[in-house]
Amino acid sequence: MKVALLQGGRSLERGVSIRSGLRVTEALLDLGHEVDVLDLGPDLVGQLEKNRPDVAFIALHGTEGEDGTVQSLLELLDIPHTGPRVAACKRCMDKSLAKYILRENGLPTPDWVTYSEAAIRDFGAASTFGAAVERVGLPLVAKPCSQGSSLGVKVVTELEQIPNALITALSYDDRALLETWVSGRELAVSVLGGEALPVVEAIPTKSNSYDFEARYEIGGASFECPADLGEAETAEVERVALAAYEALGCSGFSRVDLILAEDGPQVLEINAIPGLTETSLLPQAAEAAGLDFNAMVQKILDLAMA
Ligand SMILES: Nc1ncnc2c1ncn2[C@@H]1O[C@H](COP(=O)(O)OP(=O)(O)O)[C@@H](O)[C@H]1O
Ligand SMILES: [Mg+2]
Repeated sequence: MKVALLQGGRSLERGVSIRSGLRVTEALLDLGHEVDVLDLGPDLVGQLEKNRPDVAFIALHGTEGEDGTVQSLLELLDIPHTGPRVAACKRCMDKSLAKYILRENGLPTPDWVTYSEAAIRDFGAASTFGAAVERVGLPLVAKPCSQGSSLGVKVVTELEQIPNALITALSYDDRALLETWVSGRELAVSVLGGEALPVVEAIPTKSNSYDFEARYEIGGASFECPADLGEAETAEVERVALAAYEALGCSGFSRVDLILAEDGPQVLEINAIPGLTETSLLPQAAEAAGLDFNAMVQKILDLAMA
């Protein structure tokens, strides 16, 4: 098949995307496909129109690649693509919108309040921080509405820290969440073609329970797959993850991030296009399910063509 591999892009996750793209390209060539590697740029549409690929493999993360922009162009050009379609991408990219949808579907997600830059700057929203703390409690987590890789995520233990935490979060996006901090085990459930893959647990290696960015550094966390959970726990985590994937309208593949608290799982977010490097969680989970990297890539293509 003639595959256009989309990688790079202009988001802060460009580096991860290029690594995902390289690894997927290798697999596609191994599988005998013809690959045309495209970086997002002014000639993207021109290249797609000229080459007319059978399918586009989207190995993009963050803005434009994961938020529906590229998906919408591909759908207009009638080129099938991997990963969720436009609307699902938009819902996943916006953590606040995603959480409203989870709530409406009776799915567990921590309490939260959303602030926009405009509300704080133009409408005096800063005087509601006390009310926000009453709603979500302390500690809480401040984070940008979009973005990934824990960029701009900060824990707040006192009311007075909210302005600074919001300034950080709002430097990544024009809206930010204040969300109840949930203590528990960090799990990720990758979903491939509507089926949950074995649960992955991220176990922080340093005592960095409040420093989330540190976990993305090499050695910041170790990963266990399948996670050491009881049968009933696994079933409940998978049920919630699959229901979240469905509620947001995902298709192809996606990854649901959760915290397993004492009283059950809480969904933090759904990544429409999770990392696809050798060490990323979706490939690890696929491997644990008996699908090696090449088989996983072929399955993702088959789902795009279906
Ligand atoms: N409400 C929360 N309670 C506890 N930890 C959280 C919470 N929100 C985020 N975190 C931590 O921060 C990490 C990144 O947050 P997440 O919402 O998944 O955003 P992203 O991965 O897009 O940066 C999570 O994997 C988790 O370690
Ligand atoms: Mg996450």
